[in-house]
Order: sequence, then C-alpha cells, then structure tokens
Amino acid sequence: MPLPGMPVRLGVNIDHVATLRQARGEFDPDPLAAAHLARLAGADQIVLHVREDRRHANENDLRRLRETASLPVNLEMALTQEMAELAFALVPDRVTLVPEKRNETTTEGGLVLTPDYLRALDAFSGRCADLGIRVSLFMDPDPEMLGRLPSASVDQVELHTGPFARAFGSSREKEEFARLTFAATLVARHGLVVAAGHGLTLYNLPRILAIPGLAEVNIGHSIISRAVLLGLREAVSEVRTLLLHSLGGRAS
Ligand code: PXP
Repeated sequence: MPLPGMPVRLGVNIDHVATLRQARGEFDPDPLAAAHLARLAGADQIVLHVREDRRHANENDLRRLRETASLPVNLEMALTQEMAELAFALVPDRVTLVPEKRNETTTEGGLVLTPDYLRALDAFSGRCADLGIRVSLFMDPDPEMLGRLPSASVDQVELHTGPFARAFGSSREKEEFARLTFAATLVARHGLVVAAGHGLTLYNLPRILAIPGLAEVNIGHSIISRAVLLGLREAVSEVRTLLLHSLGGRAS
C-alpha cells in the first residue's frame, strides 16, 4: 500500500518509440535513449511490451535496458512459454501479464482468469518469486473477475483505465470512475497494490489520482504523442539553422 503523502509512481511506456524505429527498420529512434530521457525527467520505471509479433519492442531492447538503464523495467507480456523463457532469462524487475490478440492495435481488455490460466500463473509466478521478479496482472475493473484473484502469487493489479479514458467528459464518465474506485477497493482487500494504465493523459489523470490507494500509473501513448509535437519545432529549427549557416559555403 502507498504511504500517505507518497507520490504516485510513474511508469513510462516506450513502445511507441520502438514502433517508430520499426517503421524505418533501422536504429532511430532508440528506445534506450528514450528510457534515459524519461529517467532524467523523473520517471520511476520503464515499461515495454514485447509482443509475439515483435511489432515494436524486442528482446534486444529488453536486454539493453536491463544492462544499462538505471530504472526498474516492467515487461508487459502474454503468459506464453516463449515470453516466460524471455522473462526468466532477462529478469525484468516486474512483469505485467496482459492478454494478447494478434490483430489488436493495442491491449484491448484485461485478463480472463480461467482455472487453466490460474494454474499456469501459479507455476510462472513461483519461478518469478525465486528470481526476484514481481508480477502484476492487467485487469478490467470487473468485480466478478477480480473475485478470482489468486491470493499469493502476485503483488499488484493494474486496472485497465481504457473504458474510463474513452468515457472521460461524457455522461458515462461518472459510472466508469465508480467502477474503477470499487475495483481498487477489491484489489486492496486482497492485499495487492493498485496500479492503473491505458489511455491516461494530462487531462484525465487528475481524476484517476482520486482512486483510493492508487500507487502507480503507466502511460505511453499520450506522453510519446506529446513528445513528438513538443519536439517538432526544435527538430525543424535545427535543420533550418544548419541550412542558413551553410549558405556561405555554397558555390554560387
Ligand atoms: N498498461 C498496460 C498494461 C498496457 O498494455 C498499456 C499499453 O501498452 C499501457 C499501460 C499504456 O497505455 P497507453 O499507451 O494508452 O498510455
């Protein structure tokens, strides 16, 4: 549980930096550089999602982050054999288990805790405990699903704030916020830490911070989107300046 007066921890998801790199298939922009800048700006952890199709971050990004980043690394992953082996080999500080569908644009919903899933989770989290990896579950604010939370094998639940973010400013905002606050109470009742993520922005975050016991938020899209726009002016003016300064050196 967060201590009263402790600021909410900020995880910065750098997947979109890797998406941009993959668009060219070369080296820039480097997610590792983004991680270092996020650290300098006050991030508490770096989040990346290694997907089955490696559409953005990959194991090499995770390896380099583990070797050089001085911030905790939170690996989002599906609970598959391949990803479990990756986690056991590279030992991120935290793993956040998410459902993964091949054709989704981004993670669309929380985990469905079936008996089979809970059995696999038990084995996975036991090994994680041996390696010192903490395990978080990405879940919808659904009381029925949260009622199936295992008691021992994870220490945190990240509540899916996507539906709230979509409802923000509409007549459904209040209802979605109430779902989140009730869900947070259930998570805390299990003795687990409450985190939140998906669709969070500068505009809807103040409301989310009113969730009781909230200890951590994880944000990607809005931070990287703002970074592109805030940095564009400087990037263009660097080139403009170079062109102006090179005028004297051009043959007439
Ligand atoms: N938390 C989880 C579990 C996610 O899957 C994502 C998206 O990768 C995020 C947080 C960040 O969401 P967004 O990019 O919308 O800020």
